[in-house]
Amino acid sequence: MEKVRHIAVIGSLSMDLVLTMPKLPHVGETLKGNSFNTFVGGKGNNQALAMARLGARTAMLGKLGKDTYAEAILSCLSENGVECRHMLSAETVGTGIANIWVNSNGENEIVIIANSNGELKPSDIDEQVGIFEDATLLVMQLEIPLETVIYAAEQARAKGIAVLLNPAPAPVGGLPQELLSKIDYIVPNETETEILTGINPSDEVKALAAGKALLDKGIGCAILTLGARGAVIVAKEPFEKAENDAANSIFYKFTPAPPVKVIDSTAAGDAFVGGMAAALSRGESLSQAVAEGCAAGSLACTKAGAAPSLPSRLELDKLIKLPN
Ligand code: RIB
Repeated sequence: MEKVRHIAVIGSLSMDLVLTMPKLPHVGETLKGNSFNTFVGGKGNNQALAMARLGARTAMLGKLGKDTYAEAILSCLSENGVECRHMLSAETVGTGIANIWVNSNGENEIVIIANSNGELKPSDIDEQVGIFEDATLLVMQLEIPLETVIYAAEQARAKGIAVLLNPAPAPVGGLPQELLSKIDYIVPNETETEILTGINPSDEVKALAAGKALLDKGIGCAILTLGARGAVIVAKEPFEKAENDAANSIFYKFTPAPPVKVIDSTAAGDAFVGGMAAALSRGESLSQAVAEGCAAGSLACTKAGAAPSLPSRLELDKLIKLPN
């Protein structure tokens, strides 16, 4: 009998403390806000939830505190069908926190306090090595220590598991070569692309140049998310529906994002990664996976908060009109 395989997510989990306001304040300015809410969040947690809601078998490894935030996050993961037996608890620090400010256009500013996320060590990967068993794909972000991300990527690669990195938040000094050479798919947003390549992907020519710059660093395939403009795949090898830029030796494809009324863009990037990974794990082509990522990202913008905004399979299929 064929074994059922899963996506492994190694990353952060946080409680989001969200303030909405008419506009984001300037330095030194005091503003009257509109509302305050707490939502389950953290990029690793959001991406795992997105995959599970879209029907992918998903297992999560991360570190929580021993507090009520941890209880809420674990309940949310379990209720959505994410496998939690690899989750760990930190002894001396609380659960990670994100302070999120959202303006009336749905744009945000986020400050994170790592807390327990900062305690996820390479030795924890060894302790929970079972998460790699029967995994098809490892998905990570950068809200846990970089040495842990590098170690997990090495372990996954050694086991023949593909590695997808969402380099968020991107370190200002860029990423070390020992990590870059172990990434099959990198999924940066516009800000992260500029930090990693020095190129702002503000138009198609610049987006392709930035994608090529990432490939030149040794990454297999770059998928740049471009906000409301959608996403572009840039790869060294041909893929279904790719166009060829022979002069630059790259294959590429732009995919528009379905237009939506934006309420809150928090976790749109996480929904994109979840949608893309879930489709890849079903054996869909890269082009189809990115189209589903774009649709999931658009849907996440239509609701407030991180976890509550991640779409279901039904919502996503309705938007992209997939045959049942
Ligand atoms: O990507 C959105 C997430 O970033 C939020 O849920 C917040 O926790 C921050 O990590």
